[in-house]
Amino acid sequence: MPETRGSRRRSDTCGALRRKDAGREVVLLGWVDSVRDHGGLLFADMRDRYGITQTVFHPSSAPEAFAAAKEIRPEYVVAVSGRVVERAAGNLNPGLPTGEIEVQASRLEVLNTSDPLPFALTEADSASEEVRLRYRYLDLRRPRLQRILETRHRVLLAARRYLDAQQFLEIETPILSKSTPEGSREYLVPSRVNPGRFYSLPQSPQLFKQLLMVAGYDRYFQIAKCFRDEDLRADRQPEFTQIDIEMSFPDSETIFGLIEGLMEEIARAAGVPLRGPYPRISYRDAMDRFGSDKPDTRFGLEIRDLSRTLAGSPFRVFSDAVRQGGVVRGFVVPGGAGWSRQRLDNLVDAAKGLGSKGLIWIRASSGAMQSPVLKHLTEEGCRAILREMEAGPDDLALLVADRWKSACAILGSLRLQIARAEKLVDESLLHLLWVHEFPLFEQSEDEGRLVSCHHPFTSPRPEDLGTLEERPEEARALAYDLVLNGNEIGGGSIRIHRSDLQAAIFRVLGLTPEEAESKFGFLLSALKMGAPPHGGIALGVDRTVAILTRCTSIRDVIAFPKTTSGIDLMSGAPSNVTERQLKELSIRVEAPPPPRPPDK
Ligand code: AMO
Ligand code: AMP
Repeated sequence: MPETRGSRRRSDTCGALRRKDAGREVVLLGWVDSVRDHGGLLFADMRDRYGITQTVFHPSSAPEAFAAAKEIRPEYVVAVSGRVVERAAGNLNPGLPTGEIEVQASRLEVLNTSDPLPFALTEADSASEEVRLRYRYLDLRRPRLQRILETRHRVLLAARRYLDAQQFLEIETPILSKSTPEGSREYLVPSRVNPGRFYSLPQSPQLFKQLLMVAGYDRYFQIAKCFRDEDLRADRQPEFTQIDIEMSFPDSETIFGLIEGLMEEIARAAGVPLRGPYPRISYRDAMDRFGSDKPDTRFGLEIRDLSRTLAGSPFRVFSDAVRQGGVVRGFVVPGGAGWSRQRLDNLVDAAKGLGSKGLIWIRASSGAMQSPVLKHLTEEGCRAILREMEAGPDDLALLVADRWKSACAILGSLRLQIARAEKLVDESLLHLLWVHEFPLFEQSEDEGRLVSCHHPFTSPRPEDLGTLEERPEEARALAYDLVLNGNEIGGGSIRIHRSDLQAAIFRVLGLTPEEAESKFGFLLSALKMGAPPHGGIALGVDRTVAILTRCTSIRDVIAFPKTTSGIDLMSGAPSNVTERQLKELSIRVEAPPPPRPPDK
């Protein structure tokens, strides 16, 4: 076997050397980024995570090193010894921090060779994501990803320092745990020593952190891995990281202030200025004005209500909707009056794709009123709508009639689509806000029953306690979300700390006392033994870092992410297991999947 460790110690990194180092003898260890043969001279750029340094090989002064350098290829790992020299005036590279110097090599050792890579690191953006995920360790060699993971490290470090300074203790909670329903499916882990029984991986440390409050650790945090077996999207991974926080005796404002301070530190660590306090907006207002409980407020297109004006409209779509308890709502697109018919038709189709029964548009470009509703309304009727919506002659008015929640959601999606298409979003902005006063429960279409909007441990607002069991849909929660540029980056609540109230919530959710006892008996008991009032929040680290580093997918800020079907393309997880393993776990797989095809 050849000597692979090399006989030299690294004296400097590839990002360190400057003009002041001229004359020093140095040893650089790193990857060959590129090799250029300039006739008599050979240049090799060496790279490590600190930067790039140019090395130069002369045939006359170091013939052995020169001959060895002729054999090296990109991504070889090498040790280069030599003297730092200033570059001549014409050869400076202002694009590199080390661009004023180069290393005149006297010796070269190859520590390891490299096969040609499946994609060139400098052209990774044009390689498919599948190939890059399969060879994630190569993708991670790229300076861009190295910067991102460095930022992530700094963010977590800043969070730890800030919370430590505020007396928070970092306490680890179990990964092998009991299920805590938070709205998505859980990963189950079979127990070999308890055949037929399963742990579940935590969707979050929710109950453990509450029990720590009962135990008197009044300020807890954890950089916690959470696991959710849900359908994945660009902003979701099956395992992700939270900065999870809980404290005793807070009110919502205590949490808001704490997190505004924390976010300031996190943003500073990511090199972005950010200051609290952030606006607070109620769930109802967020839905009314932006059609979303995570509004993007970096642009206008605010939604208005026209239900009252249109309740008596001769156009039945409008008046019937209001008569049936629904709404007519809409927004104005500035400059939209000039859109082509095709574009308007596409917009109507988009609305229908979102579940709307239709979409009314109205414009009065060059004085002539145009709208599909002219069949049913007079020109003056349309003009009155435009006036009420404060639409100018160049503008386009869009209206939807539906139940309140659907109308808001449809208009909210259209609002986002149009803002993106029209480039109305100022991407340089960071808009943070608190959404609060969420409803406590919502009707689950899938399950046909009430479910918690946040989680079942969230406290109702005290003023809604009286009617909780009679009219649960009307109860509001002491829950809040932190929203950044239209993304939910955090969520939390003030918790229930009384056992009787917790039991009442389980009843509203349709759990029998026996089910409540078997699932949450340990919590109900703990709440009877001196549980202090408490509350908290969890920030999504991946989403926050992705937005602060301007990545479009959270996969970019996770060292080893999974695909949208939950697969680790590099290792092949999840994978088949042997019959023997299954037997040991007392598990029979009804239809074993075929083995995944071997790597191409
Ligand atoms: P919640 O479920 O709102 O609250 O989660 C908190 C934050 O975690 C992030 N997040 C995710 N990030 C990436 N991939 C996912 N699949 C994913 N799911 C959630 C989001 C979200 O805002 N126990 C409560 C917190 C509490 O009440 O204190 C909880 O987990 O940014
Ligand atoms: P008509 O087909 O002449 O009855 O007109 C119906 C018009 O109303 C079409 O342009 C539909 O897109 C629109 N429409 C139907 N239902 C709704 C609704 N709920 N909200 C907004 N527009 C609607």
